[in-house]
Amino acid sequence: MTGNIVSAREELISRLRESCADDSFVRLTLSSPRRADAAVQRVIVRLIALAGAPHLSFTFREERRDTTHNLPLTEAFAEVERRLRTEFRGATLATTAADWQLQAGDGSDGRLIRHRATHAAAPARVHDEKKPTLLGEAAQPWLAALGLVDNAGRPRRKLADKHTQIDRYVEILAHLARDAGLAATDGDRPLRIVDVGCGKGHLTFAAWHLGRTVLGRRVQVTGVEARQDLVDEANAVARSLGADDLRFVHGDIDRVPLDGVEVLVALHACNTATDHAIRRGVEAGARLVVVAPCCHQEVRPQLGRPEPLAPVLRHGLFAERMAEWATDGLRTLVLEHRGYATKAIEFVSSEHTPKNVMLAAVRATTAPDDAQRAKTRAAIDAFRAFFGISRQALDPLLRGD
Ligand SMILES: C[S@@+](CC[C@H](N)C(=O)[O-])C[C@H]1O[C@@H](n2cnc3c(N)ncnc32)[C@H](O)[C@@H]1O
Repeated sequence: MTGNIVSAREELISRLRESCADDSFVRLTLSSPRRADAAVQRVIVRLIALAGAPHLSFTFREERRDTTHNLPLTEAFAEVERRLRTEFRGATLATTAADWQLQAGDGSDGRLIRHRATHAAAPARVHDEKKPTLLGEAAQPWLAALGLVDNAGRPRRKLADKHTQIDRYVEILAHLARDAGLAATDGDRPLRIVDVGCGKGHLTFAAWHLGRTVLGRRVQVTGVEARQDLVDEANAVARSLGADDLRFVHGDIDRVPLDGVEVLVALHACNTATDHAIRRGVEAGARLVVVAPCCHQEVRPQLGRPEPLAPVLRHGLFAERMAEWATDGLRTLVLEHRGYATKAIEFVSSEHTPKNVMLAAVRATTAPDDAQRAKTRAAIDAFRAFFGISRQALDPLLRGD
C-alpha cells in the first residue's frame, strides 16, 4: 500500500492501535533516525500488562546504553506518532496477521508496505514484576532474541539455569569491572571486552549488556569461537538487535588479535584452553581476566601423592578434585606473580552447574617489584614441587624470571 508520508504514518498508527486491540501485536521497531547525530538510534516497543492494564514498553537504544519507559496505550500511541514525525524515518510493526514496514523519506514519498507475518503467535502480555536485577527491562530484547526468555520476559523453563548463570555473571562482572577501575569512562575510548571460546555467545551478550547498560560505557565487544555455525548464529542475533558494538568472529584462543583488550573472558573453555586464555590476556595487558575453568586434564596424571595426603589420594574422586583444586590454585599464583590480584568465586550454586568456580584477576596499578616476584615465584615452585607438577600450560608466563 502506498500513500503520502502523513497517511502512511497515520495508517501505521492505526494498524498499531488495531493490533493492540485485537491482541495480534508482536513488536514495533522504530529505526533510521532522521538526524545522523541522534542519541537514540532505535526504539523497540513491546506490549505488556502493568497492574492489569495494557502498556507499551519502549526500549530506547542509544550508543552507550539502553533505557526503558512504559506508557499506557493512549499516551504510547501519541509517543510513537511523535517519534515518527520528529525522530525516525522507518518503522516495522510485526503482528500475527502481517508485518508492516514504514518507509518514509524526507518528502512525500512515505510508504507503508505489507509483508507476510513473521510471527504466528502473539507473545504473552504478563509483565514480570520479579525483583529487579542488573539485567532488568533493557536486557529483555536480547534475552528474547537468544530464546532465553519468553515474550513476557520469563526465563524459559529448560533454560532457567542458563538464565540464572547470566544473571549472576552480570552481577559478579559488575563488581569486578568496578574493582578494575573500568566503570569510569575513558574519554571516548570504548571499553574493549573479548570473550574467547564464547559458544553461542549468551555470556558475551551479557558482557555487552554490562558494559553499555550497567556501566554506561561505549563498548566494543567481541566473541571468539572456533565453530563457524555458532559465530554466524550469534552475529545474526546481534545484527537483528542493531548491536553494532558487538560482533562474533571465527578464531582460535591462541591466535586471535587482542590489541587494546581490557577485559578478557573465557568461560568453560576446556582443559588448557583456559590457560591459553589467561596467558593471552596477561600478555595483552588486560586489566581484568575472568575465567571459569572446566575439564582439568593436564595436572591430573602428574599429581603425586605427597604425605600426609597419600592415603586419601588413593581414591580417584579425591585425586580428581585435588587436581582441579591444584590446577586452579596454581593459576591464581601465576596471575599474582604477573601482577594481578586474584579472587576465586563460586559462580553459581552447584545446584545449577558443576562448573561453578570462577577465577578473576584484576591487574594492579603498579607492576610487582623484584621482591614481590621472588616471593610469588618461590610459592609457585614450592606448590609444584609438593604436588609433583613438572609442566603446566601457564609456564610461558614464568619464563625469564
Ligand atoms: C563449553 S563451551 C562454553 C561456551 C560459553 N563460553 C559458555 O560458557 O556458555 C566452550 C566453547 O569453546 C570453543 N572453543 C574450544 N576451543 C577453542 C579455541 N581454541 N578457540 C576458540 N574457541 C574454542 C568450543 O567450540 C565451545 O563452543
